[in-house]
Amino acid sequence: MSNLTQSPAWQALLAHQSQISNQTMREMFAADADRFDTFSLQLDGLLFDYSKNRISAETLKLLLDLARQSDLSGWIARMFGGEKINASENRAVLHTALRAPRDAVVMVDGKNVMPDVHRVLDHLRRYTEAVRRGELCGHTGKPLRHIVNIGIGGSALGPMMVCETLKPYGHPEMRAHFVSNVDATDLVETLKLLDAETTLFIVSSKTFTTQETLTNARTARAWLVEKLGCEEAVAKHFAAVSTNLKATSEFGINPDNVFEFWDWVGGRYSLWSAIGLPIALYVGMDNFERLLAGAHAMDVHFRDAPFERNMPVILGMLGVWYGNFFGTGSYAVLPYDQYLHRLPAYLQQLEMESNGKSVDREGQPVDYDTHFTVWGEAGTNGQHSFYQLIHQGTRMIPADFLAPIRSHNPVGDHHAMLLSNCFAQTEALMLGKTEAEARAELVAQGMSGEALEKLLPFKVFPGNRPTNTFLFDLLDPYTLGMLIALYEHKIYVQSVVWNINAFDQWGVEFGKQLAGKLLPELQGKQPLSVHDASTINLMQRCLG
Ligand code: F6P
Repeated sequence: MSNLTQSPAWQALLAHQSQISNQTMREMFAADADRFDTFSLQLDGLLFDYSKNRISAETLKLLLDLARQSDLSGWIARMFGGEKINASENRAVLHTALRAPRDAVVMVDGKNVMPDVHRVLDHLRRYTEAVRRGELCGHTGKPLRHIVNIGIGGSALGPMMVCETLKPYGHPEMRAHFVSNVDATDLVETLKLLDAETTLFIVSSKTFTTQETLTNARTARAWLVEKLGCEEAVAKHFAAVSTNLKATSEFGINPDNVFEFWDWVGGRYSLWSAIGLPIALYVGMDNFERLLAGAHAMDVHFRDAPFERNMPVILGMLGVWYGNFFGTGSYAVLPYDQYLHRLPAYLQQLEMESNGKSVDREGQPVDYDTHFTVWGEAGTNGQHSFYQLIHQGTRMIPADFLAPIRSHNPVGDHHAMLLSNCFAQTEALMLGKTEAEARAELVAQGMSGEALEKLLPFKVFPGNRPTNTFLFDLLDPYTLGMLIALYEHKIYVQSVVWNINAFDQWGVEFGKQLAGKLLPELQGKQPLSVHDASTINLMQRCLG
């Protein structure tokens, strides 16, 4: 057994779980009129209601004991202080510096990184304002109105999710497009929507070596040159974002349109850096800075608030509670705001690429679960798809509900209906429906006898299913910044308890290596090498 699972705090939680698992939240709410006040927090208009969880004051105390035993305060200080906590890549982890104010001091290798951060932000402002105003134009003098981000993973999912979410703030004449997949269909179908004269391609890649991105960028470049009839057009229609400035210049991108970031920014934590260029172009630099300000507010809260009042700490420890002590393997993210419909996809990378690890910081295999599968869908769409499983499936699936009090589109009764569905779901998941209640309902509907008895078991809901609710006024850039940073830090909290490195991703490399080996064989440039029988047969089928 590992030190963690043998530790006093872990053992205390194990013992506590066997007591509390027999209690229902229904009973807990009935017994405590102050439960909502006790188990909710607020920060700058963001309400975090975690009262519908299978916890008591004792549970929270024991969870925070575990956080303390894991030296969470120390790890928070190490991250904010620029220590190289991403040890397997020997890198600091400083997405928090990207949203820190101009006069902050954040040292990496003896150098304050803040002047560089704000130099790039200033460059972003100059460039994006000139493009938005139509001062920086395309080759034929027309304003650039189609922004096409070519990037994948962290160089796509964050900007895509934010551009979708902040559509109400988007430039009325601009469209943001995202091409990621090496499947040419992704690019080809996007190109069909574009007018080359008004299109700006942004090649976004931390490493500038990613096969998908460079392949799509080369094909896009060829399309542009063909449409506009000359190579010189590339200078005005291509920008790049990368830590690898040598590679962007080799690709032929005009240095004035190249935006830098640094190896202490993880790909999936990079939307706050120049990787946010499509966001800044689409919603404007002022709104991008509001997004950064919201994230910074959450950073300060995470760094300074006592654990008992700390949103990311509590959210993270609730995940540990269910994952490690109730055996839940996944959680659902359920935004009751259509603009957040890409949030689950974004969180999939953030959460699963970060904590999908099975060796600890010392390289030892762990003997406890370290991660969750994240999934979800916006609004009532999910209700008509997979909520059945959340209500009556055999496994418990904790869920996060997110909802704005006001809609950007206040049309008729839509928003009241949306919110009534949101709150009804969390209430139903908590309460469940007992056999007696189900029976009474069927009787009221005029049923009786054998027919009633036959239907009854299907009408019972176990309930006692945990949910968190995040409620905010209007989904604006500041609130979105807070929400994203909240999830970033929650993931970090869990990685600290599990003693894993949340900031590397070696698992992704293996598939990339093999794909590189298979490509020349599939192209017929090299004979098939030794593979397993399945792979050989699949490849032979393609080779004909
Ligand atoms: O999927 C692996 C990964 O390295 C991610 O971590 C990263 O976000 C993505 O590839 C894209 O990498 P890059 O920005 O270097 O093109």
